[in-house]
Amino acid sequence: MRHNPPSRKPHDWVPPVPAFSAKIDGPVTMAYYGIQNRDDDAHALHEFQQWVATMSTGFDAPDVTEYADYVDEHGNATWVAMFYWRDAADSFPRWASRDDHEAFWLAPARETGGAGYFREVFHVPNDRLETLYSDESMSVGSGAGLGVHEGPIQSHNYWGSMRDRIPSSSTDEFAATFVLSQAPEARTAGFGERVIASGIDNLATIRSGELYDGLEGREKEVYEAELEPSVREGMRYLRDNPVASGCLVCRHMDESTPTGERIPRAFAVAHFDSLTRLEDWSESHPTHLRIFGRFIELAQELQGNIRLRLWHEVIVTTADMQHFEYVNCHPLTGFLPYAPTLHNLTPTAR
Ligand code: HEM
Repeated sequence: MRHNPPSRKPHDWVPPVPAFSAKIDGPVTMAYYGIQNRDDDAHALHEFQQWVATMSTGFDAPDVTEYADYVDEHGNATWVAMFYWRDAADSFPRWASRDDHEAFWLAPARETGGAGYFREVFHVPNDRLETLYSDESMSVGSGAGLGVHEGPIQSHNYWGSMRDRIPSSSTDEFAATFVLSQAPEARTAGFGERVIASGIDNLATIRSGELYDGLEGREKEVYEAELEPSVREGMRYLRDNPVASGCLVCRHMDESTPTGERIPRAFAVAHFDSLTRLEDWSESHPTHLRIFGRFIELAQELQGNIRLRLWHEVIVTTADMQHFEYVNCHPLTGFLPYAPTLHNLTPTAR
């Protein structure tokens, strides 16, 4: 099939290390629900975590729930639950209209006090999605619980392979419709409000993570001294340089159990104004070039006996596949400072 733009895969390409992709047959819904705990209120966090536990089970419950936390660029502790559904049957809207969802999410109490709440939801057809796992049995993200992944695949480890793995890239170049050219600025009060931010066509989102349990000796040394600090630096660059990088939102998170205890997994979620700008960062920024090169060297030095496992999922979504909602959050949260249109749903405006 003709590629648009043409594939950059070298002729007779043989990847230096193996990689795998999840077998995902239909659309996926990814819903990030977060609490922005500005006052570090243990009660508010506990209440949110209990609600998340309730919503992870029962009628139309998600296939996968994962948990993580980070401190945002304004110093606010944030805890996030990530829900995934892999079905075409619209479980998400039914789940989101369950009484126990509405009782919490729509409560006026959400709009006051020192905690804010947000949800960023993506409904993505599988031809706008790609996944990559360095180990065929990894269970995380949209491929969690699916068993053994497909592979070893051939289309990986050359620049441009991410694009090639997204099936509809063969007919769609995913041209930018919104080019980030202005620093984020407050466009709404945020606090005390319930705001829906309109979406952005061809937004490119990556969730890229590491599973670092059981690292020892040389591998542990290289991970701690070189890889992890470079990822941290690279994510800080994306978070703090939206105009130069095209990255609207970057959150570097540590994973936890349902009740917030740390587990040895970390990842970043970064949203770019186009797939091209995500490609540009990965193939030109010194931090990613360093970690990319060092990971391959390490895998070769250890003759493939590597414990560090890498994975990512990338989606390119149109505005009608997105839903961004912020309740009592600070005005620079998530997509609030960028959205072309904001719909305020606070009681006065309803
Ligand atoms: C320890 C951390 C990381 C390591 C060791 C690492 C290493 C790698 C490697 C080896 C590849 C090639 C994968 C393949 O095609 O087989 C890759 C691709 C890529 N990485 Fe990373 N990475 C890390 C973190 C990240 C993060 C946090 C991001 C962005 C948020 C990121 C963005 C990308 C992108 C966009 C590609 C695909 C490039 C393309 O195919 O055009 N990486 N990375």
